[in-house]
Amino acid sequence: MPDRKSRLKLAKRLDEVGFSEIVNVRNRVMALRAAGEIVHGFHGGEPFFDTPDAVKYAMTRALAENKTRYAPSSGIEPLRAALAAKLAGKNKIDAGVDDVLVTSGGAHALYVAFQAVLDPGDDVLLFSPFWTPIREMINGAQARPLLVPTAAARRHGLTATLETMATPETRAIYYNTPQNPAGTVFTREEAMEVAAFAKKRDLIVIADEAYEDLVYEGEHVSIASLPGMAERTISTYTFSKSYGMTGWRVGYLAAKEPFMTGLRKLVLYSVNGVSTPSQWAALEALSLTEQDFAARSGQYRERRDLLVSGLNEIGLPCETPAGAFYAFPRVDSIHKESRKAAEILLEKARVATIPGTVFGAQGEGHLRFGYATSIETIHSGLEALRRFLKGGL
Ligand SMILES: Cc1ncc(COP(=O)(O)O)c(C=O)c1O
Repeated sequence: MPDRKSRLKLAKRLDEVGFSEIVNVRNRVMALRAAGEIVHGFHGGEPFFDTPDAVKYAMTRALAENKTRYAPSSGIEPLRAALAAKLAGKNKIDAGVDDVLVTSGGAHALYVAFQAVLDPGDDVLLFSPFWTPIREMINGAQARPLLVPTAAARRHGLTATLETMATPETRAIYYNTPQNPAGTVFTREEAMEVAAFAKKRDLIVIADEAYEDLVYEGEHVSIASLPGMAERTISTYTFSKSYGMTGWRVGYLAAKEPFMTGLRKLVLYSVNGVSTPSQWAALEALSLTEQDFAARSGQYRERRDLLVSGLNEIGLPCETPAGAFYAFPRVDSIHKESRKAAEILLEKARVATIPGTVFGAQGEGHLRFGYATSIETIHSGLEALRRFLKGGL
């Protein structure tokens, strides 16, 4: 019988923290492919293009120049200075070099943000469906995620919805635009509503701008650029999606005091700074121009339009997402439980997707199709779906 007093057990705060189901799908697809099966992969969340050569050469240069030693744990000065200039110019955020912290990807920026501002028993407003790890990060800080249904809130008014959902314990709002998984892009007016609500209730905003360069309709508004918001917002970014650098693990955040001191401590004691040569390479990535982004954006739009029109045509109703690189069709005609629907499509049509339910209750009845893939994959995946749906369920 296990000794109830045994100390060989995990810390309690991990009790409520789950693993990512997205990883389970990825593993299943890898196993199928290893067994020689052809799988039409829409489960991923990685750009379809490789890291630009200039960035790879910058890494090699850094290695040749022995830029391989400890860097300041908050990031190398030239990178922080370039990021501050980018934040001020492109995002219109009032940020100086000391307001920028380099992190190990956007995930790490978000992790330290939640750890820095949440106490046990706090509540966090979380627009749902949401990127799955966010709930686990909030749980891991022993706080409680309060799911705000995005689509309903946009119909009924964000302020009214946030008013009904907020509790006296509410400390923060997680604000992700463009959103994963539904591709929602909040408008400037919506950003202003959320900002006004945060100010009225004295809340902190954790703004996740991982997909800032992937907006096809409307504009990307950094909530920290709105009046009075920079001091209450921790804005998080990543090199992963904009620059095809998912494996490099470089991201950053912008914040003011009193948060910055705590955030610096958390980066210091978690990773003691991001890999030095990777930071020099990231600096090179920042020299990509707006034309480069526009060209990329056109390629994504082409993929989006192809996939969304194909899904609608075969009977999986799908709104046109305004940003990011995911489509989120309704699939209750396949099965009302999205987990089952995803299983059926993988087994019967060899089409890999992510069940909507893993992105929160509001995602149920949907599947997430990532379209950051080749045009051929989109064609062949749609063809496989068409054949399967024609054949009857
Ligand atoms: C909404 C959102 N935020 C942040 C990230 C973090 O990305 P990374 O840790 O690769 O920088 C992702 C990655 O999928 C994401 O979808």
